[in-house]
Amino acid sequence: MTLSTRSSAVHVRGLRKSYGDHAVLDGIDLDVPAGTVFALLGPNGAGKTTAVNILSTLVRPDAGEVVVAGHDLRREPESVRRAIGVTGQFSAVDKLLTVEENLRLMADLHRLGRREGTKRIGALLARFELADAATKPAAACSGGMRRKLDLAMTLVGRPNVVFLDEPTTGLDPRGRRVLWDIVHELVDEGVTIVLTTQYLDEADQLADTVAVLDGGHIVAEGTPAELKRRVRGGSVTVHLADDRALGSAAQAFPAGTVDSDTCTVTIPGGTDVEGLRSILDRLDSARVNPEHLEVRTPDLDDVFFALTDSDTRKAVQ
Ligand SMILES: Nc1ncnc2c1ncn2[C@@H]1O[C@H](COP(=O)(O)OP(=O)(O)OP(=O)(O)O)[C@@H](O)[C@H]1O
Ligand SMILES: [Mg+2]
Repeated sequence: MTLSTRSSAVHVRGLRKSYGDHAVLDGIDLDVPAGTVFALLGPNGAGKTTAVNILSTLVRPDAGEVVVAGHDLRREPESVRRAIGVTGQFSAVDKLLTVEENLRLMADLHRLGRREGTKRIGALLARFELADAATKPAAACSGGMRRKLDLAMTLVGRPNVVFLDEPTTGLDPRGRRVLWDIVHELVDEGVTIVLTTQYLDEADQLADTVAVLDGGHIVAEGTPAELKRRVRGGSVTVHLADDRALGSAAQAFPAGTVDSDTCTVTIPGGTDVEGLRSILDRLDSARVNPEHLEVRTPDLDDVFFALTDSDTRKAVQ
């Protein structure tokens, strides 16, 4: 085992998976350091669920080297299974059982014993704010509650590596917040989290590393801040007092977009300190006093759209 595989909770090289002649994963490399959060981002059909299913032993890859929690996926799938927890995109909850019975089923599967199981179930019910619903059949729970139960079930066995496929889809803002807090707590305890998400703010909030999957490849990888830096986006909008000032500002910034309804000029880029200083200098030279400046820094949305659009993808690689 190499040093990199030992310090990585998930180590992937040359992972391939095709369905028919459709190469869903066309040679993927990943390294997730232990105790960090890794977010896989991509449009519908990009292969996120396929990747999670392979890493969690549910689907066989066509080729590639995969080591999860120190165990080779091909040679020791049982050991991988013991070390991980998976919350799939679609709920694994048994609707005929109550909330508590679903958790008990997991405790029994992990052979926790009566006392330890009851303790763990009680703690999870409290943590996920499900205690009041413990005796309700899961069928009578809302979608969001079932989602939380699903995740609680994943945690019964105290996994080292947790895979979460779109964990907050269908949760209300409070439910999302509860889940984000739990992810942070798990990471503090040393757990490694691999999640997929469509929500860019979620990746921004939670992930140490983000990888963008598109067309079978990882088209970008880095910290949220690094990815934002790689994409030119954002803008500065200068708000002006009257038409005269607007005219002068428009002349000073020929690349700007003038909106006479809102009396503004929007200048692309220029959102860093140097850019703002140069905008203010230019306004000074044109003897224009702005009412105020509005800075829109690039967010992960800009990154996502830039990287999953093949024309701009070439520009940033
Ligand atoms: N069992 C299967 N048989 C055939 N094709 C499949 C199978 N599973 C997935 N695919 C195809 O693989 C591609 C990737 O699917 P996948 O579910 O991994 O995407 P995803 O990124 O998770 O999408 P979403 O955001 O919609 O959840 C899709 O084109 C899908 O139709
Ligand atoms: Mg999916």
